[in-house]
Amino acid sequence: MTSELTTRALGEKAQRMIDALAAISASPENLTRLYLTPEHKRAAELVEVWMREAGLSTRMDAAGTMRGSLPPGKAGRSGNKALLIGSHIDTVIDAGRYDGNLGVVVGILAVETLKARGVELPFGLDILAFGDEEGVRFPVTLTSSAVVAGVFDQKALDVADEQEITLRDALVAFGGDPKRLRDEAYQRPSVLGYLEVHIEQGPVLERANEPLGAVTAIASQSRHRIRIRGEAGHAGTVPMGMRHDALTAAAEIILAAEEIARKDKKNSLVATVGHVEVMPGASNVIPADVRFSLDVRAANDKARKEAVEAITLVARKIDKRRHVVVGVETMLEKSVAECAPRLQKAIGTAVTAIQGKPARSLMSGAGHDGQSMVHLGEFGMIFVRCRAGISHNPNEFVTIDDMGLAVEALVGTILELAKQETAGR
Ligand code: GLV
Ligand code: MN
Ligand code: MN
Repeated sequence: MTSELTTRALGEKAQRMIDALAAISASPENLTRLYLTPEHKRAAELVEVWMREAGLSTRMDAAGTMRGSLPPGKAGRSGNKALLIGSHIDTVIDAGRYDGNLGVVVGILAVETLKARGVELPFGLDILAFGDEEGVRFPVTLTSSAVVAGVFDQKALDVADEQEITLRDALVAFGGDPKRLRDEAYQRPSVLGYLEVHIEQGPVLERANEPLGAVTAIASQSRHRIRIRGEAGHAGTVPMGMRHDALTAAAEIILAAEEIARKDKKNSLVATVGHVEVMPGASNVIPADVRFSLDVRAANDKARKEAVEAITLVARKIDKRRHVVVGVETMLEKSVAECAPRLQKAIGTAVTAIQGKPARSLMSGAGHDGQSMVHLGEFGMIFVRCRAGISHNPNEFVTIDDMGLAVEALVGTILELAKQETAGR
């Protein structure tokens, strides 16, 4: 049996693992690791090595999720069930090193800690390293957790990345199997719940001087693709009143989306255009074709849907006024995902004991694999403070001490659930 590490040593080990993963990137200049790429494969293989060292039996599933399993330590009423623990190892472009990766590392270190303490759990533990939480490579997201949760939409296999590689072909090239995706879902009765540790990606915990918090829900979210077709023309000869400029039409819609979100005071409504393509893309040609992404989130589904409708209405009006053709496509739509009160309570108890202060409840504006996993059963999330709330940015930072506390909080939550199971909650 490995000896038990102190909280500080757990944090130091987490940092070494985080740094090893951060070295696996598509670019020598920054951290970029997209779904089903060679970098994703290398990161998954490293995670597999750590899972095996922690005593887990491993396998890569048909959607590229690395799964590590620990059977129940003792017989009991929930002995045929597994508690799922996971997060993601894909990143955005020029990412920070903690988003997603920390949850996988903390999951593995929690298993090591339980083993070192000689704990025999009355249920199994499955650690899941998902590959597609960010949804950067393909216009869909949460593919890997949707497969695990049995809510993957087979139509998504036909979507393509910027190189026109479909998700189906990318899965095959990675060693996955699009035909087996349906077989990879857990059966609901075999799942005790899903837990995830993730950086907060916002400033609340830091401002409150608290290392950890308990998530209440994940915001409602949708992603859209907007395409505007205008008419190319000579930048020097077409008078301003005779143009059908697709980019200036897009600019109006983008500013309107910002204004609609800014006006909201109650629903934490946010709207973001993060990717714009302009064609033909020459300084002396009036833009003929513009495509851009639109990401809308809110604390409730109604406010989010109303905002999307309002933005679409603006687009329709601009379409008429500027004589361009605007198309709005919805690529992804996720309702608010509520964390289970039972898991929030277990997390709250564990976090309160560790930080000596009641656990703060927080809503997550960021998307997470829990949005898929909620369809499988109860899910809960532990947030970890990150410096200045900075995320999706190479300056993302979590202290070693906070990472050690995050491992202790996950261990504490697992023990709390084990207590409940043993007592026959
Ligand atoms: C992922 O981090 C998302 O919230 O889009
Ligand atoms: Mn994430
Ligand atoms: Mn992210």
